[in-house]
Parts: sequence; structure tokens; C-alpha cells
Amino acid sequence: MRIGIPKETRAGQTLVAATPNTVKKLIALGYEVAIERGAGELASYYDAHYEEAGASVVDAAHAWAADMVVCLDAPSLEQVAQMASGATLLSRLDPQNNSELIAECVARNITAIALDAVPRISRAQSLDVRSSLMNVAGYRAVIEAASVFGRQFAGAVTAAGRVAPAKVYVIGVGVAGLAAIGTAGSMGAEVSATDVRADVADQVQSLGATFVEIPVQQESSDGYARELDEDDQARTQQVYAKQAAASDIVITTAQVPGRPAPLLLTAEAVSCMMPGSVIVDMGASDLGSNCALTKPGEVTVTENGVIIVGYTDLPGRLPGQASQLFGQNIVNLLKLVTSEKDGVPVWDEEDVVVRGMLAARDGNLMWPPPPVQVSAAPAPAKPAEAQAPGQAQTDAKAKAEGASTAEEVQEEPSRFRGLWWKALLGVLAVLLIVAAPASMSSHFIVFVLACVVGFYVITGVSHTLHTPLMSETNAISGIIVVGALLQIGSSDPLIVGLSFVAVALASINIFGGFLVTRRMLKMFERSSK
Ligand code: NAI
Repeated sequence: MRIGIPKETRAGQTLVAATPNTVKKLIALGYEVAIERGAGELASYYDAHYEEAGASVVDAAHAWAADMVVCLDAPSLEQVAQMASGATLLSRLDPQNNSELIAECVARNITAIALDAVPRISRAQSLDVRSSLMNVAGYRAVIEAASVFGRQFAGAVTAAGRVAPAKVYVIGVGVAGLAAIGTAGSMGAEVSATDVRADVADQVQSLGATFVEIPVQQESSDGYARELDEDDQARTQQVYAKQAAASDIVITTAQVPGRPAPLLLTAEAVSCMMPGSVIVDMGASDLGSNCALTKPGEVTVTENGVIIVGYTDLPGRLPGQASQLFGQNIVNLLKLVTSEKDGVPVWDEEDVVVRGMLAARDGNLMWPPPPVQVSAAPAPAKPAEAQAPGQAQTDAKAKAEGASTAEEVQEEPSRFRGLWWKALLGVLAVLLIVAAPASMSSHFIVFVLACVVGFYVITGVSHTLHTPLMSETNAISGIIVVGALLQIGSSDPLIVGLSFVAVALASINIFGGFLVTRRMLKMFERSSK
């Protein structure tokens, strides 16, 4: 199958949907790639590089006429009209707001895959183009702040005196916020951050920043905030105003799905900030901004000397990097649907990730998809078909960590199953203790207590402590191996059998630990090239 990569046509768009690096990977999956002449130039990827990677360089009409077209921005109706019937379109289609475009895909029998509708579940992270672009945007927001801030970020002790580190305050700790915190921290700034979702405090602290408590804290099962009522908004704005007045740089990234950006910094709050301080308003758009004085797309200076950066094209300011990440997301998606590496994608509707992105197929409207259930999410209040499309999309975007498929989420039944086997194990343990010879019963009691305490300790450990926990269990496994080796020479076949099983199980833990550690370390290795 031939993939067409047209040149992006939206004004100001600097990205391209494939780079020479990702073209090679697409070819390895069995695809042919045809890229429009000059498509990668604004991201410093030139036609010759694409040709070296194995792509053919074609004109726009040929790129749009390919079996599968991949582009960043939703195409116009005229561009869709250039596509062949039965072709596939991969793009950020924004299906809930682009019904005319989706209807055109249905009418023209085009399979439409909405790249901006990847369900936010762990398994789909590697193909989530939004996360990739937000990550780049969060980084770039800090760089923009640094370029207009009249001082350095890192503190220093110089012959002329001590320089205090810049104080950076990030409001909204989603993908972009976390990237901003990490970047500002690595540049030496003193970073603090806030979110209405209390459960992000751990993540903020794990990046070395301080979490600033606000009077409104939401429990979030799906990783998204809910819109605040007027009272709560006013209370949070007071905290933001106070923090902003004490900060050099404020980066706002707050958003609530399906709503205009919430107002975080009022004109009064900005008027209390120090001259020379900077606000980077990532929420800036024509629909609303996080700061009352932002002019979307512009850098402005207020009367009291506060610089407000309202750029709306932050990923486009790092086009090489952003295109590479976007292209790799496409490779990861096509890897998922081309398991045979034969260049023929299989869009399996049973797969929640694929289903979540399918907007049109075989002349049928596939939007909205059924909501993706997430393990920690409460049961939906109303049936899916009664939901507004926007709400269904919101559910589908549930991004709670750890949930991977709808099958994992049979919350209630599994809880009861858990109770049954726990009760059964309890009864067995009591029977063992009662039936065991007197000399063994004390050992059994210790064993059963250790199992119960171990179970609750291990299941109660937070994710961030899993690595130390792994070391701990490896140490325990070591003790088990030593104990079992001491017993394995026994003349009693039962003891020999049990010792053997103990050595085997503990070894799985120890060697499994090595394998996992190796895999994690590999993630930090630089390529030898
Ligand atoms: P996200 O949904 O992952 O994170 C947004 C965070 O804001 C959430 O953690 C949410 O809990 C928090 N939040 C919502 N209301 C809040 C409030 N009143 N106070 C404090 N926190 C609040 O979103 P993501 O992916 O990190 O994107 C962040 C923003 O950046 C979005 O508005 C997005 O449109 C924008 N963006 C802007 C770009 C630009 O060029 N300016 C480029 C890319 C993204």
C-alpha cells in the first residue's frame, strides 16, 4: 500500500507528517511512501533526504491520490475530493467539530482515522500525537519565557554577588505543564506548580518542584479537570494572583476538555506582578485564554511592564523535533495495525484504541465511538447512546494511567471474585494450621501472616515506589533461595519438592528483576551511531 504525505497547507504550519527517519520505518512495515515535493522543508527535511530514505517525491495530486494519506491538519473538502474512493485518511480530524468533513469521508467511502482521538490509556501512549505535541509545546513555552525574561534562570554565586534563581510558577499540570516543570527545573529555576487535580502533587514533587495547594481540589478518575463554578474560580484566582506576584515567570496550561480555556489570571492579578516578569499563556486562543490580557499569537507588554507571550504555534517553533515525534506516532500506529509487516493495515474495531480513532469506514459513520471505560472511572451515569457526542469523546479520551482495555475494567464482578478467592485462601490457611503437626503450626501461622501483611503492603505501595519495592522483593527472594538450598538436600521428597518450587519461583523474581532493569536502562542508552 502506498502512503502519501502531502505538504501542510494551513498558514503558519511548519510541521510535516513524516521525516526521513520515519519513512524508513514505514517502508520496513511494507509500505511505499510518496511525499509531496518540499513538504518537509520548513522542518529542515529536504527532498533528497526523503529519497535517500526510500520515498518517492511527487506532486500534490499524487500525494493525495495515495492509498493512505497522512497529514497533520484536517484537510479541506477540496483536498478530500482528490482522494481515491476506498482510501484511508490519517489526520487530526477533530471529528466532533468537523461533521461536514466526516460526512464527506463517509460519502466518498474513505476510512477516516482521527489522530487526535487516541484514547488516553497506557497502551496507546506511544501513538498519541496530542501528547507528543503538548510535550514539545511545554518545553518551548519555557524557552519562549527565557528568551524574553531579562535575567538567567539558574542561581549563581559570582564575584559581583549572589544571583537568585528565577521563580517559575506553572498552573495546570497536564502533559504540557509537566514538560514545562521539567524544563524550567533543568535550567536551574525554582519551580512551583498548581492543579485543581490533587493527585498530580506526587508528579510535581517527583520533578523536584513544589506543589502549591489551592482551595479547590478535584478528585479525577480520568485525568481531566471539571469546569469550576464562579465561586471556586474566584477562590483559585486569588491564589494564582498571590503566587504570580511572587514569581518571575508564570506558565499557564489549564484546560477543561470541550470548554474554552479557564480564566486563571485576571487583569488585576497581572497588575500586581513585578515589572519584567513573564506570562506564557498556553491556553491562548480566539475562544478564550488563561490570562485576561493575552493577545493570541502575539507578545505584548502591559503598562506595568509584564511581558505576555500568547503564541498559539509552540510545537511549530520546534518543527524538526515535533515532526519527528509526530512521524514516530504514525509509525507506532501503523505497527499496531500492520502486524504482518506487509504494508496492509488491518483496522480491528475490537481494539479500543483503533475503535476510538475510527470516524468513518466503508461508507459508514463511526463517530462517536463507544466510551472507553477506565478502571478507576465511575460507572457512567447514562447510557452511551444518550450522551452528547462531546461527552462521549471526553470519556474516550480518558487518560488514567494503567488502564489498557475495556476488558480490564469489570470493576464490580472482579471485586467479588477477589473476595471469593480470598475467603477460600483463608479457609485453606486455617485448615492447614489446624491439620499441621504441632511443630509446624507456628511456622504456618508466621507464613500466613507474612502473606497477608505482604499482600496489603505491596498492593498499597504507590507507583513511584515500585522500583525500591522491586529491590526489596529481590532481597527477600535471595533469602528464600538460601533457605531452600539449605533444605534441598533433605531425604524427605516433599521437602525437596517444596525447596525446588521455592528456588524456581524466587529465581523468576530475581531474573525477572534483572530483565526489567536491563530494559529500563536501555531506554536511557544513547544509540551507538
Ligand atoms: P491537559 O488536559 O493534559 O492538562 C491541562 C491541565 O489543566 C489539567 O491537569 C487540568 O487538571 C488543569 N486545570 C484545568 N483547569 C484548571 C484550573 N482552573 N486551575 C488549575 N489547573 C487546571 O492538557 P495539555 O495537553 O497539557 O495542554 C495544555 C494546554 O496547552 C491546552 O490548553 C492546549 O490547548 C495548550 N497548547 C497550546 C499550544 C500553543 O502553541 N500555545 C500548543 C499545544 C498545547
